[in-house]
Amino acid sequence: MNSAINEPAQSVTVNGEKFRVFIPEEEIQKRVGELADELNRNYSGRTPIFIGVLNGSFIFFSDLIRQITIDCEIDFFKLSSYGDAKISSGNVKLLKDLNCQVTDRDIIIVEDIIDSGLSMDFIKKLIAKQNPRSFAVVTLLYKSDCVKIDFKVDYIGFQIPNHFVIGYGLDYAQKARNLRSIYILDK
Ligand code: IMP
Ligand code: MG
Repeated sequence: MNSAINEPAQSVTVNGEKFRVFIPEEEIQKRVGELADELNRNYSGRTPIFIGVLNGSFIFFSDLIRQITIDCEIDFFKLSSYGDAKISSGNVKLLKDLNCQVTDRDIIIVEDIIDSGLSMDFIKKLIAKQNPRSFAVVTLLYKSDCVKIDFKVDYIGFQIPNHFVIGYGLDYAQKARNLRSIYILDK
């Protein structure tokens, strides 16, 4: 059964597992606005490149970018590490590279969630080789208990516990990306 269409339900069942609302749509939208305000202030007078990490960040990216009022450009990476599981394989693969030139540019990576941090570490190393002018990371969600890599995350939407979440771009075996709120696995 695909309960994704039952929104705004307080709980949904995806691939046979039950999830409950964790961050409602309105709260997400408010926080995205605050992050955009901060970015507009901090990058005033510059033309950063916002780089989204596909697939998970596509909704956050599009909501965030529409609240950016300074000149900017966009591009996307596509990475894969999860497969269909709820735990990262730890094996990050680059499925789509950038089309833009990074050298001497202000780079802002836009992620849906930082879990182990392995994907971000992979991206950071890739970008660093091309000598950007600056490098910053904005992530909607941050699982602080899980992060295995020591690096700075400049903008965090919400710090969340070490639980599997779905919705607002985040999937469970490719399902549930279309949910408007973020849902957490109901143990
Ligand atoms: P990391 O490399 O372990 O930090 O994981 C990064 C990627 O795994 C994220 O960009 C997500 O696409 C995916 N991911 C991590 N945690 C979750 C989760 O709780 N739900 C869905 N996807 C997740
Ligand atoms: Mg992702």
